[in-house]
Amino acid sequence: MKKEDILNSLEKDIENISTQKEIIDLKAKYLGKKGMVTELTKNMRDLSDEKRREVGKISNEVKKLVTEKLIEIENKLQAMELTKKLETEKIDVTLPGIELPFGTSNILEKLIEDLENLFMGMGYDVEEGPEVEKDLYNFELLNLPKGHPARDAQDTFYTKDDILLLRSQTSPVQVRTMLKTTEKEPIRIICPGKVYRRDDDDATHSHQFTQIEGLLIDKNISLADLKGTFDVVAKHLFGSDRETRFRPSFYPFTEPSVELDISCFNCGGKGCHICKGTGWITVGGAGLVHPKVLENGGYDSNIWGGFAFGFGAERLAMLKYGITDVRTFYTTDLRNTNTFDRRESE
Ligand code: DAH
Repeated sequence: MKKEDILNSLEKDIENISTQKEIIDLKAKYLGKKGMVTELTKNMRDLSDEKRREVGKISNEVKKLVTEKLIEIENKLQAMELTKKLETEKIDVTLPGIELPFGTSNILEKLIEDLENLFMGMGYDVEEGPEVEKDLYNFELLNLPKGHPARDAQDTFYTKDDILLLRSQTSPVQVRTMLKTTEKEPIRIICPGKVYRRDDDDATHSHQFTQIEGLLIDKNISLADLKGTFDVVAKHLFGSDRETRFRPSFYPFTEPSVELDISCFNCGGKGCHICKGTGWITVGGAGLVHPKVLENGGYDSNIWGGFAFGFGAERLAMLKYGITDVRTFYTTDLRNTNTFDRRESE
């Protein structure tokens, strides 16, 4: 077979080629052991030197041409296959993605953090105390000796020996902090934390809830200082036109003791269902630290004075976000947390 015949045959063969497999077959047909190009050199041994050189030259030429052609066609085929693949696998990057549900922080935690920041801005530190507390700190040193009737107001979880209990209030952190302060100096702390009472759980009661305790110890402290501080909290949480008032009350660890009221943010004081027609909402208890409590904390009550307060964190959050069931805070339903998030940004 002549060089031209081989090349013509190849041209024809590659006309309809469409797969890699066909190329492999063609490689065998032309360049394989028994391929057409190899055939050219079959009887070279019998040829004269001159003829052999000529045939060798031609066969090399054909081999080169055939190889080049096959590579060319192979590349073309690969490019075509890639284009086809890209077309079928096309991704529309402008399509919107799948939205994943995101959680948000618990609304109660947010309120606590918010108040922590507010108080830290006024020079307060954030303190902590144990939830499993001694009767001594939870009651005794707070001027609530055994058998004191005011203990009844806080249905307490006791362990069997009556020495340890689940703290029923965050007030024990007051005495703990005073005793911890060895060089007697001014104190400004708030202590948010869990407290426990033997309550049946319903929409407004929980056996475990959260208080935010506050304590300030210094010289020449009066109720006016407490009022000013409470004012800041009320306005920060419920709007700048909120007014505050004290109502006389009784707590064994403060003297005098007061209830902390804010003017109703819903009706502005006219009276509505939220303030039960009174125009005022109670959000916590407070007072001037009782001299006995100061002494129990190692502070000379002739030199030092102070105020203390306790807010119910859930109560503040319920009022602020219009929540009617306290159990809402202890579930992780995204439908709730996300609505609170929206309410907050409104
Ligand atoms: N511990 C009180 C309670 O649980 C709240 C309270 C009242 C805290 C007056 C105080 C305070 O620090 O001075 O009812």
